[in-house]
Amino acid sequence: MEKDEEKKDMTTNQGAPVSNDQSSQTAGEAGPVLLQDYELIEKLAHFVRERIPERVVHARGAGAHGYFESYGTAKDYTIAKFLQDKGKITKVFVRFSTVIHSKHSPETARDPRGFAVKFYTEEGNYDIVGNNLPVFFIRDAIKFPDVIHALTPDPATNIQDPKRYWDFFSKTPEATNMITYLWSDLGIPKDYRHMNGFGVNTFVWVNAKGERRYVKYHWVSKQGVESLSREEAAKISDFNHATRDLYEAIERGEYPEWELCVQLMDPEKEVDFDPLDDTKIWSEPLIPIGRMVLNRNPKNFFAEVEQAAFAPSALVPGIEPSADKMLQGRLFAYNDAQRYRLGPNYLNLPINRPMAEVYNNQRDGSMTFDINEKRTNYYPSNNKDALKESPEYPTAKTPVSGYVGRYSVNKGDDFSQAGALYRSFSEKDKIHLIDNIAVELKDVDEKVRKIMISYFTNADKDYGARVAERIKELKS
Ligand code: HEM
Repeated sequence: MEKDEEKKDMTTNQGAPVSNDQSSQTAGEAGPVLLQDYELIEKLAHFVRERIPERVVHARGAGAHGYFESYGTAKDYTIAKFLQDKGKITKVFVRFSTVIHSKHSPETARDPRGFAVKFYTEEGNYDIVGNNLPVFFIRDAIKFPDVIHALTPDPATNIQDPKRYWDFFSKTPEATNMITYLWSDLGIPKDYRHMNGFGVNTFVWVNAKGERRYVKYHWVSKQGVESLSREEAAKISDFNHATRDLYEAIERGEYPEWELCVQLMDPEKEVDFDPLDDTKIWSEPLIPIGRMVLNRNPKNFFAEVEQAAFAPSALVPGIEPSADKMLQGRLFAYNDAQRYRLGPNYLNLPINRPMAEVYNNQRDGSMTFDINEKRTNYYPSNNKDALKESPEYPTAKTPVSGYVGRYSVNKGDDFSQAGALYRSFSEKDKIHLIDNIAVELKDVDEKVRKIMISYFTNADKDYGARVAERIKELKS
């Protein structure tokens, strides 16, 4: 027990001493509470404002601090400074998450897991905002609100309903590859340490010669990949089990580690799918470029994890967006969400503030808490305290041509990769995949069921036939 004289004096948020934090101020011993009781009103008013809007997706998550060590193997392909030298250390903050359900939902759900990494580089923050599965359901951002609505609880019952998302998937053949990943045991990782991460979308790396290459990211877990079957997941009663596992492992000094690898592709290369289609994986070799270690737990969940703001648009020189139609929508949506969720100065919060010094002429707004003394808040200017540009970091020249329009990705083979994935599974994994799908499809409309079975059959005849057969068994 601390001695009383060592404890700090309690104050109001104005810094005034609090004489009694247990009794409201009343008119007489048994009388009503007074409006003049600032201490009471401040305490209650602050309390009722403790929540901020939760993330519209990925609301449930856990975070940790750590570092990234570069192998120096990326320097021929990108000028990004934090990747140039062997042994170069960059601080990181990582947030893992589930996608669909809200902030205190169970961490055993069948759901992609978010894998978001913020690198605090000397050239500004760089975020890889990925998932634990290498592909996604859809390939154009305009469909994202729909896939999320189909997967989130029914607006009337507030209960997630397989009928809704299978209905949506029956109209979305490009989701077949993602479904095959997600309804396999990979759809319920054992915890956050035992899963890989993927950038999913395609970015562009630019090197010192101005050469552009498409790039995809892979985080390979040094702990290995381990999953839960549907039955194993159902037995876990601790709805925080993945958060607890991450926190406790770090407290024990068992620091989880991932190796970062990239796949590179010449944008001119002819492939039989669109490399900007995020429902597809690539066969390019993995090039290891560094490793990440998580070695420090947050001290305040709200300040560090809840207020963390990741964005696929947080890029550094040498890393640019591709024309991937999903990524293009994501470039807009995250910062937009964060201005709403956290306010316009969210990048001044300690967890989001870049390590690099920030100078520009943006000013003021709600919750400005730095005192910017520069009086020349416009550009260009002849004044001494004016800023200058950095022409040594030009945008890489990217060829574009064509007519404005709403185009679909037209190399649309939606099934071959799902078939190859199915064939790569062990017999046990196939049985689990088929059973996980069949227990849900047996209860959906006949029409939807038939369409879904036709998609699985297109992927692989055996896959479709076994799903159909298992549904029959379950129904009888
Ligand atoms: C166009 C499609 C997408 C849109 C519009 C979108 C939008 C969003 C939004 C608005 C958030 C909440 C951000 C916040 O409040 O801080 C979010 C979080 C997240 N998204 Fe997406 N998303 C899309 C696709 C994807 C894909 C394909 C991935 C995986 C590669 C992904 C991974 C994540 C992750 C990991 C988070 C949580 C970040 C964190 O931990 O704070 N999203 N997304």
